[in-house]
Amino acid sequence: MYSTVWCFQFGVIPLRFGIKSRFKKLASTTRETVTNTFRPRLLGSPENIAVVFREPHDMPIGDRIALYGLIRGLRPARYLEIGVRWGGSARIVSTAMEANGKGKAVGLDPDLSAFRPRKQELFGRFAGVEGFSPEDTPRAIEALGGAPDFVFIDAVHTYAAVKVDLAGVVQHLAPKATILLHDAFHQGIDQAVKEFLQEHTDFSDAGIVSRHPTEGDPVSYSGLRMLQIGNHDFLAELKDAHLRNDLPEPQLNPDFWNYDPYANLVGNPLGRKN
Ligand SMILES: C[S@@+](CC[C@H](N)C(=O)[O-])C[C@H]1O[C@@H](n2cnc3c(N)ncnc32)[C@H](O)[C@@H]1O
Repeated sequence: MYSTVWCFQFGVIPLRFGIKSRFKKLASTTRETVTNTFRPRLLGSPENIAVVFREPHDMPIGDRIALYGLIRGLRPARYLEIGVRWGGSARIVSTAMEANGKGKAVGLDPDLSAFRPRKQELFGRFAGVEGFSPEDTPRAIEALGGAPDFVFIDAVHTYAAVKVDLAGVVQHLAPKATILLHDAFHQGIDQAVKEFLQEHTDFSDAGIVSRHPTEGDPVSYSGLRMLQIGNHDFLAELKDAHLRNDLPEPQLNPDFWNYDPYANLVGNPLGRKN
């Protein structure tokens, strides 16, 4: 549909797109710019989560924040990314690893020509490898220097591609590794994940950890799905945390099951004052 607009020089000229939609776009860009300008900068803090707003990206903001949070929370030592493109997720992951003070990342993509982040924005933590999953996955893992404990799959969003991406990484993973898949709301990806979980019963399904579908017809996109090897091992993880912080090994004792400063104060394990 053509709209018309009055132009000082040429009189009435036709516009290919509706004026309304152009104004809407201008309004939304302005709103975004104003919001970004007044958003807390977090400068001066070692936490640089503001990176999620800075990089050009295919992922919705909720997925980006979740990715940053998962890297900060799970603290992977070796991260493999399948599908890099502009390097949006690469930069988020490198920044979160820098805040962790540990971690190395490698991204596999057949075409890295659009990669945008500058060297200093990656803190020496990320390297790109040109090639295709699954055939070049071993080469990327070699560049990583060991088995990945976190894999992010975000390449071709079809059932067939995700099937081979998953099959290509599964035999190379570190114990208790995490696999995160983007575009979990794509029905083909969901099917590939279902089949993977049926074939690999040592994996547990942590489910959708970022619920931001980009609804489409006939298929939808976005959203993060997380799979992990094994079940959560409370004591092993706690021991690891104590070790990291130079604390003595934690002892499990039923006497402490109801320990809580507030509950202790009020003298009631349900925290209710009698
Ligand atoms: C959605 S983009 C990745 C976006 C990136 N993860 C981010 O969030 O910034 C998908 C990328 O997958 C790459 N790709 C396509 N086939 C691939 C394959 N077989 N193995 C690895 N990457 C592939 C494409 O070249 C493209 O750059």
